[in-house]
Amino acid sequence: MTGPILEARDLVRGFRLPGPLFGPRRILRAVGGVSLALAAGESLALVGESGSGKTTLGRMLVGLSRPDAGTIRFRGEVLSGPQRPVQMVFQDTAAALNPRRTVGASVMLPFLWNRRLPRAEAEAAARALFARVGLPPETFFARLPHALSGGQRQRVGIARALASDPAVLVADEPVSALDVSVRAQILRLFADLRAERGLATLFITHDLGVVRAVTQRVAVLYRGQVVEQGPTAQVMDHPRHPYTQALRAATPVPDPARARPTPPPPPDAAILPGCPFRARCPAAAPACATPPVLRNLAPDHLISCHFA
Ligand SMILES: Nc1ncnc2c1ncn2[C@@H]1O[C@H](COP(=O)(O)OP(=O)(O)O)[C@@H](O)[C@H]1O
Ligand code: SF4
Ligand SMILES: [Mg+2]
Repeated sequence: MTGPILEARDLVRGFRLPGPLFGPRRILRAVGGVSLALAAGESLALVGESGSGKTTLGRMLVGLSRPDAGTIRFRGEVLSGPQRPVQMVFQDTAAALNPRRTVGASVMLPFLWNRRLPRAEAEAAARALFARVGLPPETFFARLPHALSGGQRQRVGIARALASDPAVLVADEPVSALDVSVRAQILRLFADLRAERGLATLFITHDLGVVRAVTQRVAVLYRGQVVEQGPTAQVMDHPRHPYTQALRAATPVPDPARARPTPPPPPDAAILPGCPFRARCPAAAPACATPPVLRNLAPDHLISCHFA
């Protein structure tokens, strides 16, 4: 197939802020017009600090949240609502599973409900998935979620997503709640599954080490807008947008002399018109009062800055 398998165009999602009973309600624009495309089998990182709209965007892509505007297409067909071919893996493994249902039953459900398999076949298929994600079914299938470690629960979350036979996974910070010692194993599992099944993955993370380990392209989100997008190695080694540069500088690097702090985000009231990064940008100039548009620096490298 040519063309993207999953394509989002101009997605917008706002939330009402608590305000006075009468008078205008303020709307927080969590996602302000994002376009993204994923090719079959590709792994795209979505990075950005907390509150930049990553989860809101991911939930729209899997149909758990409805966009205020914009379209999502899977293999060219417009999607509305949750769909089998696009599945989510969640950050909070405990909240993602029903605490009173055995993890085996949770993984069987998509086989029973979505794929309409008879019970015995659904169980056999679910057990095979347990084995694939590294959980011997004879030990783990009949357990309740609380009797598993975070890493084991995340393996169940992955198995449950795979049970719908998806073509696309949206993984929302899938390792950030896990012990450092198990992170690499879970990342390895994602990489193997992608190679084995040709799964496209949107990998949401704020950890740039993870970005390098498991993705080929990266999109950088700032206040609900993509500010830079391109091949992972290029964007990580030679970030062009001042925000990507600040993100990179804020992650721990082997040489402490290279680490610089990022200024904290300004309160909403301090947002100036123009470029959304203006209040924090070390390169800001009068021209930045006009919002920059996302443009091509190179055929596969997008940037939204007047001076990059
Ligand atoms: N259900 C909601 N109601 C109100 N505000 C929300 C809701 N979900 C997210 N937000 C707000 O939208 C912004 C983006 O949030 P989120 O998508 O969770 O960001 P991220 O995943 O990058 O941390 C934040 O300011 C957050 O407070
Ligand atoms: S447009 Fe101006 S404020 Fe925005 S990132 Fe570029 S230099 Fe900074
Ligand atoms: Mg989030």
